[in-house]
Amino acid sequence: MFIKQTIRDIDLEGKTVLLRSDYNVPIVDGKIVDDFRIRQSIPTIEFLLSKNVKLIICSHLGRPNGVSNDNDSLFPVAKKLQSLLKQPVEFVPDCLSEEVIKIKSRMEFGSVVLLENLRFYKDEEENNEEFARHLASYADVFVQDGFGVVHRAHASTSAITHFLPSVAGLLLEKEVNTISDVMENPKRPLMAIIGGAKIADKIDILHRFIDIADVLVIGGAMANTFLASSGIKVGKSLYDEKELPIARDIIRKAGYQNKIRGFNLVLPFDVVVSKAINNKLPTRIVDLKTHSFAEIENYPKRPPANAFKILSDDIILDIGPFSGSFVAGYMQNIQTVVWNGTMGVTETDSLLGSIGPYSHGTELIVKAIIGEFGRTPFSLVGGGDTVAYVVTNKLLKCFNHVSTGGGASLELMAGRKLPGVEALLNKNE
Ligand code: 3PG
Repeated sequence: MFIKQTIRDIDLEGKTVLLRSDYNVPIVDGKIVDDFRIRQSIPTIEFLLSKNVKLIICSHLGRPNGVSNDNDSLFPVAKKLQSLLKQPVEFVPDCLSEEVIKIKSRMEFGSVVLLENLRFYKDEEENNEEFARHLASYADVFVQDGFGVVHRAHASTSAITHFLPSVAGLLLEKEVNTISDVMENPKRPLMAIIGGAKIADKIDILHRFIDIADVLVIGGAMANTFLASSGIKVGKSLYDEKELPIARDIIRKAGYQNKIRGFNLVLPFDVVVSKAINNKLPTRIVDLKTHSFAEIENYPKRPPANAFKILSDDIILDIGPFSGSFVAGYMQNIQTVVWNGTMGVTETDSLLGSIGPYSHGTELIVKAIIGEFGRTPFSLVGGGDTVAYVVTNKLLKCFNHVSTGGGASLELMAGRKLPGVEALLNKNE
């Protein structure tokens, strides 16, 4: 249960509210490519406006390192908000401008202002108290709803709470409740599917899932490191030499959990390879014949037959069809699934206008998650690049919960405390 006060718990009538959202959205040539985070912030804004507040919203965008620039301006977000809210949103081109106080005094209750990118000042990321005090001077109440950024201790997530009564918005509450519920009290069996490039980025959640899940599926470039750590030659595939001991350690831990409680670690046992990431080049499926981690664990003592068919100039670009089908079949026995990270290089388009050449593994697993083969487990999708895949393929509505957080959702799943949540008022305060 969420133990922090939310906007439902306090009297907001006639107040000025400073709302922190996460509008760190992809913008190309001034156009918002994916407005998922903006749309997800609307219920909180509508709730606040229904309480007749003056609403001042702040956010960061990108990593401008304290330097103001057009590419990282939140101006396109103000336009988007205006069209989603169907009311004017006044944009203030400097979050510390004296104008804000003047604007506030002439603002009507029920109106909305968006401040320019907080990270145009280094003070934001440095968690500067004076910067936070200045922002706080605009308002009577602070509302944190930027779930995607609460894993950072910045001025607008941490220091600001020293100066204003600070509560959670509806999105933050929903994210924390849903993710915590799945991690602490999942309907079993629980399957975690983790992809992406580097083990280092996800080491904590890999460990957590080995502790709590019933099955952990590993795909993406990260799987290459696991295969390499088990003695399989991965050619020119992306993998990290430094991470080999971490991978071995995880395989060992998984083996122990397998013995004591029947936990399963599933690594790709066939892969799609090509000579380069180029949709004009043919792909080939290599059967690694490593049907269980136990077999891999025994490398190099007992290498399975045909294990080394990845050639020295091959690059692994996707999990193979046997691995994908195995996971899809396994899913028919699963009640809850957490998915973070694609199984291959899904950004490459197909020449034929159909599914990309290295997207079939992800596609098969996604179909299984959303119930196309029968059972529909409860599905939680971790944010970041996975959301980009979900949005591009117009699948947002197919999952039970798609998180707006990248790093924040990973840290919450790993069981870490989030500074931007910790700093808010407790229910009993
Ligand atoms: C995100 O996109 O994960 C958040 O907006 C946080 O951004 P950051 O990683 O630049 O702090």
